[in-house]
Amino acid sequence: MIALADWPNLFRAGAPGSPVLLMLHGTGGDEHDISTLAGQLAPDAGVLAPRGRVTEGGANRWFRRIAEGVFDVDDVEARADELAGFVSAAVVELGLNDRPLVAVGFSNGANIALATAMRHPDVLSRVIAFSGMYPFGDRQSTKRLDASALLLVNGEADPMAPRASVDQLAAALAQLGADVSRVERPGGHGIAQSDLAAARQWLDARVE
Ligand code: MLT
Repeated sequence: MIALADWPNLFRAGAPGSPVLLMLHGTGGDEHDISTLAGQLAPDAGVLAPRGRVTEGGANRWFRRIAEGVFDVDDVEARADELAGFVSAAVVELGLNDRPLVAVGFSNGANIALATAMRHPDVLSRVIAFSGMYPFGDRQSTKRLDASALLLVNGEADPMAPRASVDQLAAALAQLGADVSRVERPGGHGIAQSDLAAARQWLDARVE
C-alpha cells in the first residue's frame, strides 16, 4: 500500500470543489516545472504532481524504455499500476473524493497518464495528453473505457510521438468506448499556445 510520504510530490489544494489536475512531467522534468502548466490551464484548480520514479542518465521518467519510442512494456504496465496506487492513496489521504480528477501529462508524462487511464479507468477517467502516443507497444489494451474522456494533443510531424502511433491510440480508445477528442497542429514535440487553448476548451466542456 503506497502512502503519499513515500513518493516525492507537490500538492496545492486549489479552490474548494475545483478540479484537481494530476500533473505528470516529461523526461527530465519534475513536479515543480510541470505544475507551472496547471496555472495556464485552470488557475484555481488543485494540483497534485508526483515525480516519476525511474531515472535515465539522471533524468526523471515514468517508465523504462529500450530506445526512444520503444518502451519496456512490462515496466509501463507495472509503473501505471503503481501510479494508480499513488493516486488512490492521495484521494483518500488528501480528501479529494468529491473533486473531479484530470491527469495532464506531457510526453513521457502523457504516456504514463494514458497507460494508467487505460488500465485503471476506475481511478483515472479523464486525461489531457500533450505529445503522447500509444504506450503499450505491440500489446493490446482490453479494459472498457465507456466512462472515460481523453484529449490527445499532438504535433503532426513529431518524431517522438509518430502519427501512426497516435492514430493507433485514438482508434484503440474509441474502440474501447472512450470519448476521444483529438487536436493536431503543425509542428512537432512540445506544447504550443494553441494546445493550451484547446485544453482549456476541453476542460470547460468536459469537467464541471
Ligand atoms: C517516452 O519515452 O515516453 C517518449 O519517447 C517521450 C519521451 O522521450 O519522454
